[in-house]
Amino acid sequence: MSANPDPVRVFAPAKINLFLHVGDRRSDGFHALESLVVFADVGDELMIEPAKEFSLALNGPFGIKLADEQDNLIAKAARALAAKAGRTPDVKITLTKNLPVASGIGGGSADAAATLRGLMQFWNLKIPNEDLHAIAETLGSDVPACLLSETLWMTGRGEGIEPIPGLPPAPLVLVNPGIGVSTRDIFANLKDRVGIGQAAKPKPDLSILALADYFKSNRNDLEKPARQIAPVIGETLSAIAANGALRTRMSGSGATCFGLFADDKTAEEAAAKLANDHPTWWVKKARIQ
Ligand code: C5P
Repeated sequence: MSANPDPVRVFAPAKINLFLHVGDRRSDGFHALESLVVFADVGDELMIEPAKEFSLALNGPFGIKLADEQDNLIAKAARALAAKAGRTPDVKITLTKNLPVASGIGGGSADAAATLRGLMQFWNLKIPNEDLHAIAETLGSDVPACLLSETLWMTGRGEGIEPIPGLPPAPLVLVNPGIGVSTRDIFANLKDRVGIGQAAKPKPDLSILALADYFKSNRNDLEKPARQIAPVIGETLSAIAANGALRTRMSGSGATCFGLFADDKTAEEAAAKLANDHPTWWVKKARIQ
């Protein structure tokens, strides 16, 4: 097994929960979930290069936010995969952190999953999917979903994954009002919820308008507790709606919210207006990929 001398580049797309229903707390402390998860064409980028020992370099607009983190999920993922493969994690990983940190769009989970995908290729490993999935689960609830990075139906604490083909490449605008929130704190603040086993899967080959209609039958159970902790989330949702979104919702445990738009032009205009009106907010036009 020889190291590949050419750098490997991996994309870590933003994860968006189109809806998120929360069930009971399980005996392992995690809540049972039901969620329709999509991935966007915006995300972080990783580059993997050969090195004598493991190192992680950070750049990009949000790289500085991770500078003090001793045990980044990327390092954990690299060490876990190296241990499974019986080798040392002798790579330098450069992370271009484009996504806001602790923001409900899976940044850390997407980076961990991209590390696993990239190192599988870089080290030319033949580890079975189930084993890779098991490593992903140890890294975080959203990491198995991010390993797939395709539209999927999520169950369990996040480990249940079923691909859902046929959603339209709908235009979205992602907006983070410049704050990070703790997933643990939001779950701890959760009082009422839809529960799981109620939601219908989307029909295949939906139009964007039909997808918008689908939103009427579900919600994000974490939105209410997140808005209590961070009221600016309510302001964010209203601002997106005021700029022509068909639907607005918070993703994951927040604080990033998104709008679903009828077409790219309306989404681009909304993104430009939101960025202009709220210079401290992170605003990105995206598409479901
Ligand atoms: O797995 P992850 O590190 O993303 O989880 C962060 C925290 O969010 C957990 O410690 C738990 O408090 C909460 N959580 C939960 N149920 C889930 C996922 C996360 O209660 N399914």
